[in-house]
Amino acid sequence: MNSYKIALIPGDGTGPEVINEGLKVLEAVAQKYNFKYETVNYDFGGDRYLRTNEILPESAIEELGTFDSIYLGAIGHPDVKPGILEKGILLKIRFDLDQYINLRPVQLYDERFCPLKGKKPQDIDFVVVRENSEGLYKGMGGFENKGTEKEVATQISYNTRKGVERCLRYAFDYTQKYGKKKQLTLCGKTNVLTYAFDLWERTFYEIAKEYPDVKTDYAHVDATTMWFVKNPEWFDVIVTDNMFGDIITDLGAMIQGGMGLAAGGNINPQGVSMFEPIGGSAPKYTGQNIINPLAAICSLAMLLQQLGEEQAAKSVEDAAKFVVRKKLKSLAAGKMGYSTTEVGDLVIKAL
Ligand code: IPM
Ligand code: MN
Repeated sequence: MNSYKIALIPGDGTGPEVINEGLKVLEAVAQKYNFKYETVNYDFGGDRYLRTNEILPESAIEELGTFDSIYLGAIGHPDVKPGILEKGILLKIRFDLDQYINLRPVQLYDERFCPLKGKKPQDIDFVVVRENSEGLYKGMGGFENKGTEKEVATQISYNTRKGVERCLRYAFDYTQKYGKKKQLTLCGKTNVLTYAFDLWERTFYEIAKEYPDVKTDYAHVDATTMWFVKNPEWFDVIVTDNMFGDIITDLGAMIQGGMGLAAGGNINPQGVSMFEPIGGSAPKYTGQNIINPLAAICSLAMLLQQLGEEQAAKSVEDAAKFVVRKKLKSLAAGKMGYSTTEVGDLVIKAL
């Protein structure tokens, strides 16, 4: 029987509540599909930082690197200055474990929850492959003459051939394997960012030659946001850099029905990956048992897929789909018609 070691970082705000529902579902599918797992809990997050002044202990990355997977709730605390926890925990894990892909499926489960008029589930079904280790997130740049009238602040987008190439290769492989239309769109800004996206574009078309069965397409990032709203059905798989990927996936989350459903994976195809709902810690909903746990449950499905438990992954995803379609009144916190824990129970019943 397969057995997995999973690190849990429930984190801040509603993170622990949604992770709990994910764990209930994990227990149910482990029994149903006959695998074993063991979890270790890590209390990284705002409360720990405020209590101990330590963001991540020295040994954390090395320890996390020994697991088969990491399941994260949310990072971000209202009493901690923005940036400290995000950079010190979330981005540090992404970078240090070299999780160079951020994978974000955008799928509309039920047209009732789509803010776009007339769009159906078959119209909104694509995946964004976001580069997750470079670009503007690299943190390059700085201040000159800080605090004076002559102040200059620079923030540099750092793109290596190696980093761009491995991301593009992942996207081509992914499209070949899972793309419904076998179509990969590079999202960039070649008309203005003429260094960074020149490298992206050249590498894209070079690698494309190795994938004759994958159709290639290019869209500027501004046009991409327009088409997400106007013609989302045009997209199959989209590959883009870190910053653009961050922005367009929030828009993607909205057109699929909101943060309540948006799941993501930080993937190191050769190493340890981390799965998380992308909605954040939602401080105002904390502790009320009203947050939607489906994004966390769908992230668990991605985690199971990555572990190779394909059947379990599919069954969790189908159950979440069923609950959205047949049970929920809304996907928003407090309006679902059920509590957080009840939604978890509904998913388990639907498995
Ligand atoms: C995300 C988040 C993070 C990001 C923040 C919290 C650092 O917005 O996962 O998209 O910008 O990557
Ligand atoms: Mn984001």
